This record gives sequence, C-alpha cells and structure tokens, in this order.
Amino acid sequence: MQKENIELSFFRAKVHELSAVDKDLIRSAKQYLLHAYAPYSGFLVGSSILLDNGEIINGSNQENVAYPSGLCAERVALFYAASQYPDIGIKTIAVSAFSKNFDIIDVVSPCGACRQVMAEYEDKQVEPIKVILHSPNDDVLIANKVQDLLPFAFKSPYLRRY
Ligand code: THU
Repeated sequence: MQKENIELSFFRAKVHELSAVDKDLIRSAKQYLLHAYAPYSGFLVGSSILLDNGEIINGSNQENVAYPSGLCAERVALFYAASQYPDIGIKTIAVSAFSKNFDIIDVVSPCGACRQVMAEYEDKQVEPIKVILHSPNDDVLIANKVQDLLPFAFKSPYLRRY
C-alpha cells in the first residue's frame, strides 16, 4: 500500500481586502439571499456568478414541502447561467448565507452536489472557476478553482469505454 498526498489551497480574508469586482459579487449574493424561499430551514443562501461577458447571474435556495424537490442557491444560479449563456464561461461564484434561527459564525461551504455541478462547468471551460464563500461577519474563504473544493470529482472520462 502506498500513501499519496494531495495539496489543496484556499485563502482566508476579510471582505475589505478584496478587489472591487469580488466585493461587488459578494454584495450581490448578500442581496439575493433575501430572495430565498426557505420556510422550512430558515436558512437563506444567495449565490452570484460573474460570467466572462461581465454579466452577473444570481440565485437563492428554493425549498419545497417535498424536501428533496428544493434546490440550493448555487445550483439555481449555475443552471440559470448555463441555460441563458451556454457558451459563456464562468469566472467566479460567490456564496453568502444567513440564518433566521442562529448566528452563522463561519462561511458556508457548498454541499457535495453543488460542488459536483461546479466541477462539471469548470471542466467544460479552459479557465478555472474562483469560488468565494462569505460569512455574515464579512469573513471570506476563497478557492481559486473548484478542484480545490472537490478533489476526486466524478468526471466525464469515467463514462467513456476504453
Ligand atoms: N443550501 C444552499 O442553498 N446552499 C448551500 O451551500 C448549503 C445549503 C440550502 C439548502 C436548504 O434550502 C437550506 O440551505 C438548508 O440546508
């Protein structure tokens, strides 16, 4: 048996240390979390995507009384972006969350299914997708590529016959 190591990089910062473009995207995610439909969890998530054409696409989590029928903010935004602009790459995705029931003390990390969807779109384009996770006290965690958030993602070559 042989041990292997992988190196993942991420950065922690405060919002005020970021570029104007990144601050803008976070502001957007914070604003759009107010559009969440989250009557069951009271957990509001906003996600904003900056596309290569400069357009910003926003999403929020949409819950359903049949729980699995709901969808996370990240996938709402990603699927909308991909449907509207199938040939435009994604530069950055920002995620912000707020709970009606408790104080969130750290950034919210996207669920595995959302990371898998991010990994698919990252794979489809040349440049990596930057992921910015934002907490209500303005801490941020940044991964410069989705691969750092989801090593060992299921990728399309696995579906090919050899
Ligand atoms: N949720 C998101 O929208 N994004 C995440 O990254 C984590 C969880 C939503 C799903 C559900 O509506 C609520 O937050 C509680 O899990």
